[in-house]
Amino acid sequence: MSSAGGLRVSNVSVVLGGVRILEDVTFDVAPGESLGVIGPNGAGKTTVINAICGLVPLMAGEVWMDDIKLTGRRAYRMRGLGIGRSLQTTQYFHDLTCLELVSLAAAPNSAIGAVRFNGHRRPDKRSTEVLEMLGLSDYAEHPLSELSTAVQKLVDMARAVASGDKLLLFDEPTSGVSQSDRAVIAKALTSLREVGRTILMIDHDPAFVVANSDRLMAMNFGRVLKIGTPPEVMQDEEVRSSYLGEMSPT
Ligand SMILES: Nc1ncnc2c1ncn2[C@@H]1O[C@H](COP(=O)(O)OP(=O)(O)OP(=O)(O)O)[C@@H](O)[C@H]1O
Ligand SMILES: [Mg+2]
Repeated sequence: MSSAGGLRVSNVSVVLGGVRILEDVTFDVAPGESLGVIGPNGAGKTTVINAICGLVPLMAGEVWMDDIKLTGRRAYRMRGLGIGRSLQTTQYFHDLTCLELVSLAAAPNSAIGAVRFNGHRRPDKRSTEVLEMLGLSDYAEHPLSELSTAVQKLVDMARAVASGDKLLLFDEPTSGVSQSDRAVIAKALTSLREVGRTILMIDHDPAFVVANSDRLMAMNFGRVLKIGTPPEVMQDEEVRSSYLGEMSPT
């Protein structure tokens, strides 16, 4: 399976409301690689994703995906480039089914009504495939409100996968998900890695990030503290002290 969606973030700084949120952030994610992003609350992790997606202006620096410069593109002009993102908090129309929600992400210009009430609705191949890849086929016709948090998070990931087939940006896929249910999220990530998707994933569960990433990036106060293999980053003194009280010893 060919890989694409290599990401290069170079010297990115972001200032919001007069406050410097990101300071000289530089890292890359190779095509097909999975980079886990860790750091305490407020470290700037979500802002990194927003900076990649064009949702916040860059004060300095550049973002590239493969040979496409993303910097300066507005968020709405990102569609079609193959970038999908999930959200830290999922708030959807809970009476829509999993298939409907994923179909909407696959074809964002269609009105909800067109998806939902079109009596001649053809099975949407792409959405069906995405549901299958993430282990959601059994839930396709279930309204989101009936499903567990883990499945809701998977649907959010499936929406990202349906809208972007190269680079996936996942913001805390395990937040609110019980420890025992995290295995289904891990399995979905494994499936995506197997087909060569490039992944940037933020998560607060150290064991989960280590198990599901090729490399890690630790952040604090809007800066990159350390990038390396999971053991290199997890054993780093500065990383460990930034987590005091938040991360149990590994
Ligand atoms: N639009 C904004 N205007 C001003 N400050 C902001 C804005 N968005 C985020 N911030 C601030 O930037 C800092 C980084 O926020 P960000 O959401 O990127 O952190 P995070 O690492 O994702 O944290 P968490 O783990 O809690 O999700 C925080 O101090 C936050 O309050
Ligand atoms: Mg965040």
